[in-house]
This record gives sequence, C-alpha cells and structure tokens, in this order.
Amino acid sequence: MTPHDAAEALRWLAEMGADEIIGEAPVNRLTGPAPKPAAEPVRAPLRAEAPAPKPVAQPGPGGGLSAAGCMSLRDIETALEGLDQCPLKKTATRLCFADGNPAARIMLVGEAPGRDEDIQGKPFVGKSGQLLDRMLAAVGLSRQAQDPESAVFITNVIFWRPPGNRTPTEAETQICLPYLLRTIELQKPDVIVCLGATPAHRLTGRNDGILKLRGKWVTANVSGRNIPLLPTLHPAYLLRQPAQKRLAWRDLLTLRQMLDAH
Ligand code: URA
Repeated sequence: MTPHDAAEALRWLAEMGADEIIGEAPVNRLTGPAPKPAAEPVRAPLRAEAPAPKPVAQPGPGGGLSAAGCMSLRDIETALEGLDQCPLKKTATRLCFADGNPAARIMLVGEAPGRDEDIQGKPFVGKSGQLLDRMLAAVGLSRQAQDPESAVFITNVIFWRPPGNRTPTEAETQICLPYLLRTIELQKPDVIVCLGATPAHRLTGRNDGILKLRGKWVTANVSGRNIPLLPTLHPAYLLRQPAQKRLAWRDLLTLRQMLDAH
C-alpha cells in the first residue's frame, strides 16, 4: 500500500466513525502469538493454467463480433465499439467498458456509467468512483495494483451512459448482458462483488432489495462455473446515505475474510 492509499484508507475509516481499534473477538495477550499457518499458493489454480493456443475471434451476425465470438477482453471492447444495436450508443459520448487489472482475482460490477464515466470512458471515475477507491484501499485493494491478489477489475452491466442517468430499459440491458457474461468468462474472477441491486439481480436471478441481499455470499453460475458473489451497497447510495457506510464496511470485511481464506 502506498502512503497515499494508506491515508485514503484512514480517511474512509474516519468517515465511517471508526475511531477505535476493537476486534470482534477477545484476544488473550498473555499467551504467545499463534503460529502462522503455512503459506498457501497466492492464487487459485485459475491463473496458473498453462496458456492455451491462441483462439481466433469469431464473427457474429452482421459481421461484428458476437459476445460468444470474443476470445479476449480486447475482443469484447472491439465488439462493443462496433455494436450498433444498443440505442444508448447514440446518446452516449463514448463506450465505457472496464478498468483495472484484467488479472485481478476480484471483479466489481456496477450498473451503468454516469456523466464522468461517459466523458472519460472508464467506469467509476466520478464522485462515487472516488469513494469506491477509498473503500477498496481500506481493505488493501486497488484498481491500479499490479499484483492480482490486491487488484480489482471493474465493469458495469451497461456499457453506455443512459441519457440523464435514467434506468436502462430491459431491451438495453439484454443487449449488453451477453458481453458482461463473456467478460466474466474471459476475466475468470475468483470472486464477484456487485455494487448495488442491478448487477446483483442480473447475475444471481434474485430480486430482493439490496439491503436484504448485501453482505451475504451467493453463487453466480456463469457458463457452468460457480463463482462466489457478494452484493454490497452502491457507492452513489453511500454518498446519499453516509450512515449506511458502516454496512458497506462490514461487507468489505466479509470480502477481505474470503480473500484471506482462499
Ligand atoms: N455508477 C455505476 O454503476 N457505474 C459507474 O461506472 C459509475 C457510476
């Protein structure tokens, strides 16, 4: 963690009212430190797979790349650049596909780009993105990290800004969804974190409110692969309801615990 990240993490903790260091469980400080468990391999075997021969991208109907035809994250971005079916593309400034480290263990999925993301072409770069970066730093994660263990990869359910930030229609979502699912297949996250209800609903098939879903691990089945998924509160909601940051903090600790255990 850089000094800047550490300062950001402390700021986030202070914002949440965490001004004392108290553990959940009592610690007997009269006994010596517990022996450290043997170091585990840092990454589940997924990242250690032998490189497969490079597949060739397949064209979809209309000549552009179908989601299934994409063989790399770069292919997906190219396919989205050439995808004309989504009406949002006509009103958006640019495509907003993904940011972060494609080798990360963790994929974060938000809803749709807002004004700042539309201008910069990267997810979560506005006010809610800045809060998200502070939240991640508080548990040792960053979209800039080179190390897959502490890196995140960030994308959205929708890849173009809906005008005026309106809720995307079902048709718009259905056009983007195959590309999100293919992104998950290709990025192969060990863990998915859904920011807000929209991605949680789309990836789990559940329709409960986010306050009910948040903080509990569920499983997303993407092309036959079961991926642990943690829904949490959207940073934009936390900006409107700062008192709820304590819930988001609990979710981040739940995520940290899972990462440390695997
Ligand atoms: N909100 C989202 O859900 N995604 C973004 O990229 C920005 C704001």
